[in-house]
Amino acid sequence: MNLQLDAVGPLYEQLARALKRAILEGRWHSGQRLPATRVLARQLGISRNTVTYAYELLCAQQLAVSRHGSGTRVRAVQPVRSPWHDNPAGRPLSRYARRARELGPIKLARRHKLIRYNLLYGEPLLDPPLFNSLRTKLSAAVLRTDPNYASPAGLSSLRSAVCRYLARRRGVACMPEDVIITHGTQQALSLVARVVLDEFDPVVIEDPHYQLALHALRAHGARIHSVRTDADGIVTADLPARGVRLAYVTPACQFPSGAVMSFTRRMELLKWAAQTESWIFEDDYNGEFVFEGASLPTLRSLDTHDRVIYVGTFSKVMYPALRLGYIVSPMRLRQDLASAKYLDDLGTAALEQNALATFMENGGFDRHLRRAGAELQRRRAVLLEGLNRYAAEHIEVTNSVAGLHVVGWLRKLDYAGLERLIGHAAGKGLGLHPIHPFYEKMPPRPGLLLGFAGLWPAQLDVATRLLGRCLDEL
Ligand SMILES: Cc1ncc(COP(=O)(O)O)c(C=O)c1O
Repeated sequence: MNLQLDAVGPLYEQLARALKRAILEGRWHSGQRLPATRVLARQLGISRNTVTYAYELLCAQQLAVSRHGSGTRVRAVQPVRSPWHDNPAGRPLSRYARRARELGPIKLARRHKLIRYNLLYGEPLLDPPLFNSLRTKLSAAVLRTDPNYASPAGLSSLRSAVCRYLARRRGVACMPEDVIITHGTQQALSLVARVVLDEFDPVVIEDPHYQLALHALRAHGARIHSVRTDADGIVTADLPARGVRLAYVTPACQFPSGAVMSFTRRMELLKWAAQTESWIFEDDYNGEFVFEGASLPTLRSLDTHDRVIYVGTFSKVMYPALRLGYIVSPMRLRQDLASAKYLDDLGTAALEQNALATFMENGGFDRHLRRAGAELQRRRAVLLEGLNRYAAEHIEVTNSVAGLHVVGWLRKLDYAGLERLIGHAAGKGLGLHPIHPFYEKMPPRPGLLLGFAGLWPAQLDVATRLLGRCLDEL
């Protein structure tokens, strides 16, 4: 049948996507009967439930119709020429574009309307008062913002507000001139790559890692050197002794393991960077929410050799659609990073910057952080309690103190069992997401990323109960 699964998300979604592609490309014509679930399951070596869920998804998407006794048939749809099957032959592409084509799919989980209790990681807390507050700030900003091009490094009001916030909450001392407002961490990384890396330059990333960072670096042409992490963060003893230009790390909350880099490792990493003259990209995407004990000082605040490029984002403390973040640049890179930003997009939209600056200056941001912190604490506690009450026999939870998800390792299931669990849970409206796609080297036993920010406490209770039941049933 030539169905190419893309390894993104649960298996039934991958199968539904592959079938959808075949239907939209006209490889399956309208009225044609899809193979019986048992037959397809056998052909693909997957469970029959997975095929059933995939078919149900296709029916919900109006691409197929299921009738009792006559199986599932393709609906009448207009075939489309899909961009992913365009033939690139003969078309000259840049080396960047060719590398980007070869990257393979991004394996980050998404929301799904059929999954009611989705324990999605990476979701921020969506707090209704925040939207109201931003609405008023944005409409005021329309009248207040200078309609001309703003400074490419960002509005000085926002850069100052970011400095005050960082000094107060993250212990980072910086001046507005050190700050460049970006479109999130992702743009910060591509600006940094442009400024400090040439093609084939070696870059250290953590194993496991954040896939979008890896892909941006690979597309840029970096040679990736993956270094393992443990409960104390990146294993500094495994860092290459020379030659590395940049190390991308998540010390406050390792993604996806949730490990907090220990103080000793932080000092070792800084020493290594100074000795090898490497830059450190400190991705502090999730440093704000620490639920037990005090947070450790950032690498930037411990750095005495001006080697740390500190990067923050509003994607977790507010939400990702804002596409706002910032770089706190080492003195030596300030000018080059600002030039890269200028040449990239002439600066971030001044309107949103203006609204955010007002929100930060008038105390709204601090109030939001207090509210969000307390609510996240509550949700995390409900999740942990539910896991303990309903699934302790099956799941060992890693004791991570920061971040918006916890990691649960499955005590009794192997990887085939994990696949069955995900399919079985999806059938009950429970979204589960494996951790192994983020590892370079597969962990010995399967684990789940269990996000708690996107569900209410009562939903989290139901979700953990469902999880316990699914595990019992398997
Ligand atoms: C490790 C890591 N860094 C950064 C981000 C946020 O990226 P951005 O600021 O581009 O939205 C995420 C989002 O999930 C992440 O997991």
